[in-house]
Amino acid sequence: MDTPETDNRPKVECCPSPTQYSLYKDEYDIIVVIDVLRATSAICAAFENGVEKIIPVSTIEEAQTYQKQGYLVAAERGGEVVEGFSFGNSPFSYMKDEVKGATIVLSTTNGTKTINTAKGTGCVVIGSLNNLEALSQWLQEQKKNILCLCSGWKEKLNLEDTICAGAIIDQLLATGLFRSSEDSSIAAKYLYLSARNNYFGYLKSSSHRRRLKRLNLNKDIKYCLTPNLTKVIPYLVGDTLMLMEN
Ligand code: MLT
Repeated sequence: MDTPETDNRPKVECCPSPTQYSLYKDEYDIIVVIDVLRATSAICAAFENGVEKIIPVSTIEEAQTYQKQGYLVAAERGGEVVEGFSFGNSPFSYMKDEVKGATIVLSTTNGTKTINTAKGTGCVVIGSLNNLEALSQWLQEQKKNILCLCSGWKEKLNLEDTICAGAIIDQLLATGLFRSSEDSSIAAKYLYLSARNNYFGYLKSSSHRRRLKRLNLNKDIKYCLTPNLTKVIPYLVGDTLMLMEN
């Protein structure tokens, strides 16, 4: 991770929480929003299964407004489906015929807020372990400054998003085409290297894995922690996530 003053390769770094985004935001062309458990994994699953568009909204009030207009709306808080909405944030909710070709409005505890935090500051793409390889390959081809923006949990760092950021950073640094110098990126990379052979075991005591386990969502956790299930790269166009043609 040496970065001599003369190194003009593009950089890839990790912002460990959306609360720190203002410290980074002016320096990056591509922002990879990560919420492994479960928003960005569910978004990838949705596009993999034929959803056409997703409108990420930050508040339940916005979600209700869309609902009144007749949209298909999903809302999750604290890992549970919000009362009055037909589904939440489980990747398996997006594998049904009714969502094929649909536009879905989605509001989640952290992930959709983070997407909206990043909106308007660069090209915003969706990252997860599920689309890791395809995303890393695309990022490598762009040769731009890349920030992995972790959603965390209620403004705090979480392990799974940091590990995913570390995986992307590790893959891009291995090409020799990128540089990285922030301590957050070094920490993310080392976390990934410790976790990569057994994400499920490594995250056993992590806060959101415990929370989802309490809600009997182990199946979701296993799905979200499985790398390379899909090649989709969702990205933000205006207020809407669309599938990148790559
Ligand atoms: C979030 O956006 O905070 C998460 O995806 C929560 C969840 O697991 O549903």
